[in-house]
Amino acid sequence: MVLLRTLRGPAYTRILGIGDYRPARIISNEELCRHIDSTDEWIQDRSGIQQRRQATPDESVVDMGTQAARAAMTYADLTGSDIDAVICATITHPYQTPAAAPMIAERLGTKNAAAFDLSAACAGYCYGVAVADDMVRSGRAEHVLVVGVEKLSDYRDLGDRGTAFIFGDGAGAAVIGPSATPGISATTWGSDGSGSAMISQSVSWTEAQERYAPASLDMPGDPARPDATVTDSLWPFIDMQGPSVFRWAATAVAPLCERALAAAGVTAQDIQVFIPHQANTRIVDTLVKKLRLPDHVVIADDITDMANTSAASIPLATAALLRSGRAHPGDLALQIGFGAGLTWAAQVVQLP
Ligand code: UT7
Repeated sequence: MVLLRTLRGPAYTRILGIGDYRPARIISNEELCRHIDSTDEWIQDRSGIQQRRQATPDESVVDMGTQAARAAMTYADLTGSDIDAVICATITHPYQTPAAAPMIAERLGTKNAAAFDLSAACAGYCYGVAVADDMVRSGRAEHVLVVGVEKLSDYRDLGDRGTAFIFGDGAGAAVIGPSATPGISATTWGSDGSGSAMISQSVSWTEAQERYAPASLDMPGDPARPDATVTDSLWPFIDMQGPSVFRWAATAVAPLCERALAAAGVTAQDIQVFIPHQANTRIVDTLVKKLRLPDHVVIADDITDMANTSAASIPLATAALLRSGRAHPGDLALQIGFGAGLTWAAQVVQLP
């Protein structure tokens, strides 16, 4: 019997480089409140958000993801030909196929790197780091680029003041590669599909049927109505049951952080930085209190400038902390993503 050949990789990995991309246009709360019945004071008080970034209409998830990826590669002193795989975590690339990752890989000049998109919403980046860590340690790839990128402004419902203020656009990326010492801990992750309705991005089937009645077959994509496109009338918005998600995040996420610390074999005393998904400053404050994080721990607060950028929020916040000098290369950081699905993932990483 022949023995199939398998791969074996290095024992440890780490983040070799991190990069971000922030669209130039800043939308203040005041500007947003010209479109929704709200105030700067209410938004800051309930979410901590002071402003968000907005991509231009022709600036895509692929454009933004490529910019962040280039910055991460420069940080790691690597070029496209060094990258073996690209994972793009996003929920706002507007196509089921082709995925964004192969286009990003092509623009970076990789040599036909493996590339795929990953849909785990606000947990997407930490899911990507977990998969990349496994890929490197298994010998499947030497350097994996994980991109978290969102153009949430395309899916923002300005008719819903409960969600319109919360989302922002941007991209962050990390290069994961081999390391002589452990730089990425065991990941803890999971999902709970019973909460799938809490945050959803979909057109309403009822609305679609009403709009195209009485000819029930007369739906977008139907050859009888070539003019009826999905974009002209049934563009999906992100719907969120804010208070339910808030309650879940405020109660369930602290124990998930504790599990992640335990899996990494460290305590809250051992970390220097806490980088939770930037969903709401009140959620972050609750986590800090419940985890009894010591005073020396630096807390990511990028939500004030960027709002909630889903899969992009953790690498964006990491890059901002390093750039500002508040966090330093070599610091141990607990990062946790949580959100739609419901999904969550966390690991302790050594900052590059
Ligand atoms: O990224 C994935 C995970 N996502 C999250 O973790 C987000 C979790 N949820 C949240 O962060 C919060 O639920 C929000 C920031 C989205 C909303 O804050 P909230 O304190 O939960 O507001 P609420 O929806 O409970 O509404 C409270 C009140 C309501 O008025 P009544 O019914 O008490 O009279 C709303 O109608 O505030 C009203 N309201 C607003 N008022 C002014 C809701 N949105 C607004 C608004 N401006 N934009």
